[in-house]
Amino acid sequence: RYEITQREASAEILPGVRTPLWTYEGAFPAPTIEARRGRPVTVTHRNELPVPTVVHLHGGRTPAASDGYPTDLVLPGGWQEATPHTGHGSAQGAHGMHDPRAVVTRLTRDYTFPLDQRPTLLWYHDHRMDFTAPAIWRGLAGLQIVRDDAEDSLGLPAGPRELPLMITDRAFAADGSLDYPSLDPTLRERPGVREPYLAGVLGDVILVNGAPWPVHEVDAARYRLRILNASNARHYELEAVSDDGRRLDLVQIGADQGLLAAPVTHRLLPIAPAERYDVIVDFSGVPVGGLVRMVNRLGSGRTREVMAFRVARKATDGSRIPRTLSTDLPAWRRSDAVRVREFAFRVGQMHGGHGWLIGGLPFDPARADVTTHLDDVEIWRLVADVHHPVHLHLVGFRVLSRSGRPPLPHDAGLKDTVSLRPGEGVEIITRFDGYRGRYLFHCHNAEHEDMAMMANLEIL
Ligand code: C2O
Ligand code: CU
Ligand code: CU
Repeated sequence: RYEITQREASAEILPGVRTPLWTYEGAFPAPTIEARRGRPVTVTHRNELPVPTVVHLHGGRTPAASDGYPTDLVLPGGWQEATPHTGHGSAQGAHGMHDPRAVVTRLTRDYTFPLDQRPTLLWYHDHRMDFTAPAIWRGLAGLQIVRDDAEDSLGLPAGPRELPLMITDRAFAADGSLDYPSLDPTLRERPGVREPYLAGVLGDVILVNGAPWPVHEVDAARYRLRILNASNARHYELEAVSDDGRRLDLVQIGADQGLLAAPVTHRLLPIAPAERYDVIVDFSGVPVGGLVRMVNRLGSGRTREVMAFRVARKATDGSRIPRTLSTDLPAWRRSDAVRVREFAFRVGQMHGGHGWLIGGLPFDPARADVTTHLDDVEIWRLVADVHHPVHLHLVGFRVLSRSGRPPLPHDAGLKDTVSLRPGEGVEIITRFDGYRGRYLFHCHNAEHEDMAMMANLEIL
């Protein structure tokens, strides 16, 4: 059982200035929730923010009632339960369109997570319709780690040598406040205002676990880096470079939905918004005092740097990377699929401006876009115009192909978010198991999501 109060707070993120934030429990990132597979966790959220919120546990196998449907609001104090508005593309952020009359209805809400799922790194974040991007930007994001005995017994680096890394980018105004284009209400009125951030909002400061470009002291040993790209729109291609110019191996052991069957070694690891990569880096070959920089090859100038590791001391290392990491990955075959669907993720006209559409349609909570049956296996063909990280709620999936070719090395394992590259068609396969009910799939570029690139997934 956890209790989380959502409230305004501030933090010194950049030296010498305070940044006002929206937080879970006053902290950014929010407190990490540690959980065990199959041991249900109930989180009571209390909303003391000035706006309605919705909590979603990303990657969780969660009954629909606790999955954080975008209109399933936790109202703040002094707000009245109202029919959610259905306007789109209004990523204006701060204050909603509800009528703030002084009737308190639901200030708190219990979310129950059975966590009957493979151990992995999950994250919880706001998911309010049309307002997710600015809410996450202002701080409503945190980690939840699910573990089990089988994973604990593998001998992977653990304790202080296991580092969850939540990577985000943010822009700051001179007074330290977060700079989000749409936080300025006057912008809303200007025609064409969506265009400047149609591609999504980027920041020029890279934060890891809420700190700008941190330098973390490490032993000369293996570390398990559990990386989440929690940025609204920024993509990264990570590499680990030591100060003598060597590139360290990034040995991937897990994907969004837990351990791979066997490790996959990368030199360069692309990571789209909402993706998680579980990676082992071995610092034992780096001399004491040496620095290993985590570089984003897609960045330029300061956004090329993510963080660094300072090797502080020699150390013994009892950890290992087993050649077999897991044996329970679903192995769905094409012939298991009872249907194939195709979805185009593309820009389109909406309300006189541009919106991001799935199959030509903007998100409508009242429309069933996909209706399927519990335990059906399906293949989905996802086609993109520009870069879209596509996320399915409830289920994990496997990547079958990219533009007719075999998946890439970083597509290994069980995923819940897949990065569609510009012009690409990606096939995924999944089984809709676990729970019946209404779920979602959407682009996890948070601005695209708010600009209507989301659809309903109804499991009967
Ligand atoms: Cu990370 Cu629908 O969410
Ligand atoms: Cu999700
Ligand atoms: Cu997108």
